[in-house]
Amino acid sequence: MSFLTGLYAFLFYFATVVLLTGLIGKVVQYARTPAPLKIPTTPAPITTGGVVLRMAREVVFFESLFRGNKWTWIFGWVFHFGLFLVTLRHLRYFIDPVWLPIQMIQPFGIYGGIAMVLGLAGLWARRFLVDRVRYITAPSDHLMLGLLILIGASGLMMSFVVHTDIVAVKGFFRGLMAFELHPLPADPLLLMHILLVAALMIIFPYSKLLHAPGLFFSPTRNQADNPREKRHIAPWAKRLEQE
Ligand code: HEM
Repeated sequence: MSFLTGLYAFLFYFATVVLLTGLIGKVVQYARTPAPLKIPTTPAPITTGGVVLRMAREVVFFESLFRGNKWTWIFGWVFHFGLFLVTLRHLRYFIDPVWLPIQMIQPFGIYGGIAMVLGLAGLWARRFLVDRVRYITAPSDHLMLGLLILIGASGLMMSFVVHTDIVAVKGFFRGLMAFELHPLPADPLLLMHILLVAALMIIFPYSKLLHAPGLFFSPTRNQADNPREKRHIAPWAKRLEQE
């Protein structure tokens, strides 16, 4: 086993532990955060079924962002949809045999990669070109966008310019899943791509990128507009009432 293989194996085990413990910790923290008030953003659905539908529209179409700002919406949605296709395409490195739908999605995954980088470029340009957005932009916003663009660009370079040994890449990652070490190809683009991916996994639970799980815990989105039909009492207030 080469030093490189060992180093990357250690890095990915470490990144996976940080990602999983960080995510679980944050979700528990969100779930425990008190939401004492009835504050759905109106007009809001009046039934739970309606709330589920509203949430689904928010997750799939970014509905409230669409209402808020069309440029941010188009770039944001293109980036996320591209990322979704790229994620599906990448599943082939981790499953064997590769399911038919994942085989069929492969070419679209490449377009997804291009769309992802274009969307990110638009989101980044907005942080320089729109005065009021530039004013509230923090260094970490640039860091996240730069990191994601570099991951996408190095991936696209591998798809279009300098190929890597995909069979060996798959062998390495499936090996890790079985706690075995298989050699990782020493191609600079691949090493950069997955080094940045490991960095992303480590940063993810502690960054603003965590907005996806956060959405489900937003009282303005996950509450039904039924304060007249049903009295809203926070769990701690209920306990006080019983005492
Ligand atoms: C451990 C995880 C990952 C591995 C092993 C991996 C590996 C690879 C490889 C080998 C390629 C070249 C594909 C080819 O030549 O056809 C590639 C492409 C690409 N990767 Fe990754 N990658 C990982 C995670 C990610 C993540 C998290 C992102 C996005 C945030 C990403 C974005 C891309 C893009 C945009 C491409 C180009 C389009 C494509 O071929 O799918 N990768 N990746």
